[in-house]
Amino acid sequence: MSGAVRKNWIVGAGTPLTGRIRVPGDKSVSHRAIMLASLAEGVSRIDGFLEGEDTRATAAVFQRLGVTIEAPSPQSRIVHGVGLHGLRASADALDCGNAGTGMRLLAGVLAGQAFDSTLVGDDSLSKRPMRRVIDPLSRMGAAIDSEDGGLPPLRIRGGRTLQGIDYTLPVASAQVKSALLLAGLYAAGDTVVREPHPTRDYTERMLSAFGWPIDFEPGVARVRGGAGNAHALRATDVHVPADFSSAAFFLVAASVIPGSDLVLEAVGMNPRRTGLLQALRAMGADIVETDARSAGGEAVADLHVRAAPLRGIAVPEVIVPDMIDEFPALFVAAACAEGETRITGAAELRVKESDRLATMSAALRALGIRVDESDDGAIIHGGAFALDPSSPVLIDSHGDHRIAMASAIAGQRCPGEFVIGDIANVATSFPGFDALARGVGFALREA
Ligand code: S3P
Repeated sequence: MSGAVRKNWIVGAGTPLTGRIRVPGDKSVSHRAIMLASLAEGVSRIDGFLEGEDTRATAAVFQRLGVTIEAPSPQSRIVHGVGLHGLRASADALDCGNAGTGMRLLAGVLAGQAFDSTLVGDDSLSKRPMRRVIDPLSRMGAAIDSEDGGLPPLRIRGGRTLQGIDYTLPVASAQVKSALLLAGLYAAGDTVVREPHPTRDYTERMLSAFGWPIDFEPGVARVRGGAGNAHALRATDVHVPADFSSAAFFLVAASVIPGSDLVLEAVGMNPRRTGLLQALRAMGADIVETDARSAGGEAVADLHVRAAPLRGIAVPEVIVPDMIDEFPALFVAAACAEGETRITGAAELRVKESDRLATMSAALRALGIRVDESDDGAIIHGGAFALDPSSPVLIDSHGDHRIAMASAIAGQRCPGEFVIGDIANVATSFPGFDALARGVGFALREA
């Protein structure tokens, strides 16, 4: 978050990963649970809530908007919903921290309020494109000002009359889809969002669970307009599964560290999130799903992963949106694989918390791996990690949580130690990553 202290890690060759672990709650589900529970009538309980900086920032925003949110114990929240029209203006700007999901979804909610609001974020979020939500929300009747180039802060004027739209997303984005569906709760008439490729459907599923009339199938969602109090959200308890994107680092680590045998418990298995599993299996990974079940309406399973030799693949473009957050981890799997791994159709990676095509290419090159970067992807030439003996290696994570964690995996396969810089933002999505990783065999310490 803004003003975070600069922290570094030192990583080096670890031991085989063994044990059973549960990674923290899903970030996407936790954001949405706070939002819908706040806008619902009645009291909702959230279990398995991600105690990360991103999701805590979203909870703090709703508290500023007048919602009472209790934290009876870590990973649980009790949200006293105020109803669709019960939020109150905040005198101060609303700080979304590092969270693109928080800011984009909030833009949709706040566009429908009677009062003005300003959304701000940290340095990284302040560089991320918001036109993708400003343009379609403006078409619905919202009034949103930004900095030049469509960058935050977003100044959102209240008291507007919103009209439902039928909108086809130019790029597959669950955040943009969700912003429009949430604005649709305040609009006259239905809002229909069509996607070039299906993305995670948590907003649709959760709106339905909170009793809102919505139809959806992969690639299209239609939400009924709520203007004139036509409909309401009813308080519902939410059970948040473990985040597949956090589990992903351990899936890759245990696959590439020889001798590893690790179980990840109760991982969320929404098919719009598990593209990495398909990619890793195509590369030869040994990952077995056990005890597949439903927990609180979400598919979860235990994932048993054993080390296996990997070979390079061409990642099918069709699964790119289903593994959009997993490319930093995939880069490391590719570096440890035999042969080339080709990534195409992934230009969205350039507008994440960092330009992930550039930051991961640079990280692997610093460890002796050949990477050819292109506009929308990269070719990673698998090989052995090697450190330049003449100068200490420092990998800059650019404040991107997933670059820091992916680099830490690479470290476990390195012949010597190196430093990963600027790791504080790991706490945005995966608080406690370092302790959990050390507990299963990582060599990783703070510097
Ligand atoms: C998210 C959607 C994805 C993903 C992000 C979380 C969400 O972003 O990268 O980490 O919760 O909706 P886009 O929708 O911009 O692809």
